[in-house]
Amino acid sequence: MLPWFLVFSTLGLPAWGVSSWDKTQTKQVSERLQYLFGNISQLIEKGKLDLDDVFTIVFRKEWGAEAVGCSSHLTRPVDALITHHIHGLECHNQTVCSQRLRELQAYHVHNNSVCDVAYNFLVGDDGRVYEGVGWNIQGLHTQGYNNISLGIAFFGSKEGLSPSPAALSAMKGLISYAVQKGHLSSRYIQPLLVKGEKCLVPPQKARPKKACPNIVPRSAWGARETHCPKMTLPAKYVIIIHTAGRTCSMPDECRLLVRDLQSYFMDSLNKCDIGYNFVVGQDGGVYEAAGWNGQGSHTAGYNDIALSVTFMGIFSGTPPNALSLKAAQDLIQCAVDKGHLTPNYLLMGHSDVTNTLSPGQALYNIIKSWPHFKH
Ligand SMILES: *[C@@H]1O[C@H](CO)[C@@H](O)[C@H](O)[C@H]1NC(C)=O
Ligand SMILES: *[C@@H]1O[C@H](CO)[C@@H](O)[C@H](O)[C@H]1NC(C)=O
Ligand SMILES: *[C@@H]1O[C@H](CO)[C@@H](O)[C@H](O)[C@H]1NC(C)=O
Ligand SMILES: *[C@@H]1O[C@H](CO)[C@@H](O)[C@H](O)[C@H]1NC(C)=O
Repeated sequence: MLPWFLVFSTLGLPAWGVSSWDKTQTKQVSERLQYLFGNISQLIEKGKLDLDDVFTIVFRKEWGAEAVGCSSHLTRPVDALITHHIHGLECHNQTVCSQRLRELQAYHVHNNSVCDVAYNFLVGDDGRVYEGVGWNIQGLHTQGYNNISLGIAFFGSKEGLSPSPAALSAMKGLISYAVQKGHLSSRYIQPLLVKGEKCLVPPQKARPKKACPNIVPRSAWGARETHCPKMTLPAKYVIIIHTAGRTCSMPDECRLLVRDLQSYFMDSLNKCDIGYNFVVGQDGGVYEAAGWNGQGSHTAGYNDIALSVTFMGIFSGTPPNALSLKAAQDLIQCAVDKGHLTPNYLLMGHSDVTNTLSPGQALYNIIKSWPHFKH
């Protein structure tokens, strides 16, 4: 049997907010994961590695890809396979899947400044495989792994359901083919779920200076008007947080989620606004919450002197996707460039300053290698 593990970039989680994340919900999610895990390992066990596993590839030209491209090559065979599940990108036939993929590509290219769609391949519930950047080019799906793995994404439903049997079967066919043709090592691993394998994550290089990311202003997500105490700028700290709740991977969905987050803080927690300065979605968007000038309510003692950058979702087992990590890093650099953050700031995880599991172990492992992390 091939080693097979799944990583979900996002799941349709039923609720968010630390307090609303209870055992039942955790159980529901883990059951869903187990189903999917079971479904796929069954398929892999049943099938021999041969080319009988038929699948259809819809090539870039066929789905109407924009003529853009990334140029970093993959050296084959790669040793790792990373599987994502793109929440809220449902499709059941080639027409709709192609349309969704064109939207996704446009979004990655135009709004996230990525050179192309971020995955090597995508698999639709219609049972077809859609060519992303393909076999020979590096995707931008998982920070630290893009040059040593194939990143394959399922178009996922809003409800976070398991992919269709046709999609699972196509995935199996695609993996068999990748191994047969020498694109993927036959002893491939899915490294992110293997404990203690940090050595695989290459050290982060100093990043070239970047423009500020597009920040989605409060007016664009329909913020309520608020009157909060002001920050003491420039801030001295950056605190990385996760909401431990619902996540989102499309802009519409993210704007709605940020609005819900504001209502939760204001109506249920009785706070003057969302308790974070900025929130980041798995769409790669940075959403202005309390912003540069308003104080959050995330960490007693730090709210006026720390900028909080909060990932929407739960990132204890699976880290945020590469787009959102890049967006957060760009935002931090931008804060320094604009003078909102001192150049010798200290970056910390939420759990470093208060008693919480946030920002989740998987995300924490990543920020440990970011510049200015407190050691
Ligand atoms: C594809 O699916 C959409 C939405 O489910 C539907 O409206 C459309 O008619 C379908 N197209 C074909 C060619 O089956
Ligand atoms: C993507 O960028 C374009 C052009 O900058 C902008 O018009 C559009 O609103 C953005 N889309 C989203 C979903 O943020
Ligand atoms: C992948 O990228 C990292 C960091 O840029 C580099 O250290 C490593 O050698 C690369 N690995 C391969 C196989 O190209
Ligand atoms: C996956 O397995 C579960 C339980 O074995 C089953 O209920 C579900 O229908 C399966 N899903 C698919 C897509 O095969």
